[in-house]
Amino acid sequence: MSTILNVENLHAAYGKFKVLQELSFEVEEGQVLGVIGPNGAGKTTLMNTLSGLLIPYEGSIVFDGDDITKQSPDKRCRRGLGRTYQVPRPFEGLTVFENVLVGAAYGTGRSERATIAHTVEVLKSTALYEKGDIVAGQLTLLDRKRLEIARALATQPKLLLLDEVAAGLTDAEVHEVMELVEYLKNTGITIIWIEHVIKTMAESTDKLLCLATGMRLIYGDPAYVMGSKEVEEVYLGVEED
Ligand SMILES: Nc1ncnc2c1ncn2[C@@H]1O[C@H](COP(=O)(O)OP(=O)(O)O)[C@@H](O)[C@H]1O
Ligand SMILES: [Mg+2]
Repeated sequence: MSTILNVENLHAAYGKFKVLQELSFEVEEGQVLGVIGPNGAGKTTLMNTLSGLLIPYEGSIVFDGDDITKQSPDKRCRRGLGRTYQVPRPFEGLTVFENVLVGAAYGTGRSERATIAHTVEVLKSTALYEKGDIVAGQLTLLDRKRLEIARALATQPKLLLLDEVAAGLTDAEVHEVMELVEYLKNTGITIIWIEHVIKTMAESTDKLLCLATGMRLIYGDPAYVMGSKEVEEVYLGVEED
């Protein structure tokens, strides 16, 4: 198995406010890395540094053999890095189909016919095909989350970054999201899955990284991390929502 992402000694800040510190980890191609940690731990900030919205002031990010530490978000996207946002960001006035089409058409140089075919394929794989004509603004939260994933998938990522796609969903809906992640994993996509609700998603991951105050608290096999004192302490008294 080869390493697709190597994060080394990452430090990132918003202005003078330091968030990520000394963060190092690797992701193997085709695996699912779960990232957990309490609110404010720096999970979304990590996403932002991986997707290029925030440039770290120290450290490096090597993706698929390229140093992308300072690359722009659009270059990373074309290079195969797709992300979702914690709060879904579809084009509210466009239909589900159009939203995915935008991603499929972006920077790929595909023919019109191939772009449409890829859009249909993505809609089918995310169970949105029947809802293609619905305006995004009218979707339920579960379908908005699906659309968020579909929009990222449309860009054909090698590495997909999921930011709290299960947040705010019922148990049954979380189960559906887990099935979707499982399906994506089986297609060979590497996934970094950030979630605050950890019990359910831990089962679907190959490795877990727990962040606390922007630092790596513990990292390893899901069972080892979930059973650790570190995770128990950091989540102590924190209600899972
Ligand atoms: N755009 C921003 N500007 C300044 N501080 C921010 C910004 N976004 C997040 N923060 C702060 O950075 C810390 C980490 O936030 P975040 O990465 O969103 O945590 P998580 O996703 O783990 O809940 C928090 O203290 C948060 O208040
Ligand atoms: Mg967050």
